[in-house]
Amino acid sequence: MTYDLVLRRGRLITFDTESESVDIGFKDGLITAISADLKESADQELDLNEKLVSPPFVESHIHLDSVLTAGQPRWNESGTLFEGIKIWGDRKREISLEDVKNRALTMLKQQAAQGILFVRTHADVSEPQLIALQALLELRDEVKHWMTVQVVAFPQDGIYSDSQNEILLEKALEMGADAVGGIPHYELTREDGVRSVKRVFELAAKYNRLIDIHCDEIDDEQSRFLEVVAAEAIHTQIGNRVTASHTTAFGSYNNAYAYKLMGFLQRAQINFIANPLINITLQGRADSYPKRRGVTRVKELWQHGLNVSFGHDCVQDPWYSLGTGSMLDVAHMGVHICHMTGREEVNACYQMVTQNAAKTLHIEDKYGIAIGKPASLIVLNERDAYDAIRIRNQPRYVVSQGKIVASTIPATTSFSSTGNCI
Ligand code: FE2
Repeated sequence: MTYDLVLRRGRLITFDTESESVDIGFKDGLITAISADLKESADQELDLNEKLVSPPFVESHIHLDSVLTAGQPRWNESGTLFEGIKIWGDRKREISLEDVKNRALTMLKQQAAQGILFVRTHADVSEPQLIALQALLELRDEVKHWMTVQVVAFPQDGIYSDSQNEILLEKALEMGADAVGGIPHYELTREDGVRSVKRVFELAAKYNRLIDIHCDEIDDEQSRFLEVVAAEAIHTQIGNRVTASHTTAFGSYNNAYAYKLMGFLQRAQINFIANPLINITLQGRADSYPKRRGVTRVKELWQHGLNVSFGHDCVQDPWYSLGTGSMLDVAHMGVHICHMTGREEVNACYQMVTQNAAKTLHIEDKYGIAIGKPASLIVLNERDAYDAIRIRNQPRYVVSQGKIVASTIPATTSFSSTGNCI
């Protein structure tokens, strides 16, 4: 067999054993051979010289409709979630199809260069024209030959805060959104919040979609919609199709309640997404000292065997004005604020931006380095996952569906103690 592309002498990433050098052959966009010494030729060959080969990064939570708008029409001076929602409310009156598509495409290219080939984005469907949703659905199809995008219909302003919002949410699913979202802690009352979670599950069943709810993204220790999500997942037995994003209030619950809840979560088997970069800055704003870290109980969830991934959430928008989209930056922050600095814990954080996130997105059939899977992988300059997070370089190569879509030459630094540096 002749291959379209062969990567020679790459080390497949492992977490507990020393990886061995292999050749990987690609044909028609699929991985068709993994061997210690592949004899056949290829149209294109690359010698990886023992570099690390990993499945690509997965961005499990981002808002592509608002990326790259920081400062428009004004900066978020309080740094709070709620000022961010107000600013976005003003900015989104000016959005157009081109505006959203251009910014989102710029971001997707930036993400691909950094090794991300699977993205779950939320689209704000509280805006009556559903422009953001339309733009992201069109883009999802336009980039599918190099990037897999999932779109969540996200009712940013709540499902019941305005009479039209529930209708818009359902319309978004009819238009083709991949998942249905909610924001129960931002509904007008606790009762509306509970009702909104139940409605999300009803819509997911009616349209056969995944669920990803912004859940308890607040420091209020009385915000307890996670238990409602867990209960619905237990009753419907669809926990693996359900994601609770953020759940920052879980970090503020008393331990007696958290312990009880953890047992329910194990029964529910829902997925969790924490967004450490943004929540370390958004949360704790009303605290004096000590200030809370603003993330959910990532370490405890992981220790209890629940599926946790990390997302970026926002890049240069009203809620988070920094960021480049790098999942290694996200994992690096997660390592720090979740107290995950042990060797095994750092490796777990790498898995939270790769395989765990793939499980959350339900893309496991097309994810991973194995014969028959799509030929999508990244080549890293570092020795292992631990160093990848510590150093946070861009991948040397990014291969998507059999084609090299990005390559980055590492920066080199000259040093001279005599000052004769060029
Ligand atoms: Fe979010």
